[in-house]
Amino acid sequence: MDKVFELKNVSYFYTPKVPALIDISFDVKLKEKLFILGANGSGKSTLLKLMDGLIYPHEGQIRFFGKVIGDKRTFDEYEFRRRVGFVFQDSDVQLFNTTVFDEIAFAPLQMGMKKEEVEKLVNEILISFGIEKLKDRPPHRLSGGEKKKVALASVMVIDPEVLLLDEPTNGLDPRSKKWLLSKLEELNQKGATLVIATHDLEMAKKFSDRIIILNEEHKIEAIGYPEEILNDEKLLLKANLI
Ligand SMILES: Nc1ncnc2c1ncn2[C@@H]1O[C@H](COP(=O)(O)OP(=O)(O)OP(=O)(O)O)[C@@H](O)[C@H]1O
Ligand SMILES: [Mg+2]
Repeated sequence: MDKVFELKNVSYFYTPKVPALIDISFDVKLKEKLFILGANGSGKSTLLKLMDGLIYPHEGQIRFFGKVIGDKRTFDEYEFRRRVGFVFQDSDVQLFNTTVFDEIAFAPLQMGMKKEEVEKLVNEILISFGIEKLKDRPPHRLSGGEKKKVALASVMVIDPEVLLLDEPTNGLDPRSKKWLLSKLEELNQKGATLVIATHDLEMAKKFSDRIIILNEEHKIEAIGYPEEILNDEKLLLKANLI
């Protein structure tokens, strides 16, 4: 089985006294839906930022299809950004354009798509996400859930092979949540690999292939299949998930 990511003994410290992750090792397989669960502050967001090459491990290494992320000799950052999409936990750090339309058009334009093609694509995405009415609004003045949808649309518009999603259902109402799940299912069916950090046990139950639990000591508490992890009440209590 192809490995999309391989993490070996990864540690990250914001300061010597503030560890965020300690000795993390696991693989992400091609087309897998891998969930990362853990209490507040356990290190989920840090882990996704490391996997997106926004920060680098202080110990250990992370490979993407065999190449160490950030290694100047072998790692092609441009190609990586085309293949991997990241949706931040906090939409405010992600959204920076003056209108929703420009926000969603940004990545395809950066990738060199023609203006007319981008316009068509963005209009399709706006409709498919049910946010066409927001098209001329400034993203930073939207509601939390609306911002989340724009952030998701601005990443999903380039059809990434790998999606790293930090709390994607945060702030979404039940209908939007259901819709997002079907959208992600569709992407996964087409071959996308999904890594999702969440507190949403219901989503993990419905949708995950495999689950990693981070504990409050910033280490991996358990890795396993949803049926074994989610039925282990002692484990979920220990990890502060129920
Ligand atoms: N920018 C930062 N500077 C210093 N410490 C940080 C920073 N970001 C996170 N931390 C610390 O690193 C640890 C891991 O944080 P992280 O945001 O990865 O947790 P999380 O599992 O995503 O939490 P949440 O469920 O609240 O989103 C926490 O102890 C946190 O206080
Ligand atoms: Mg987080």
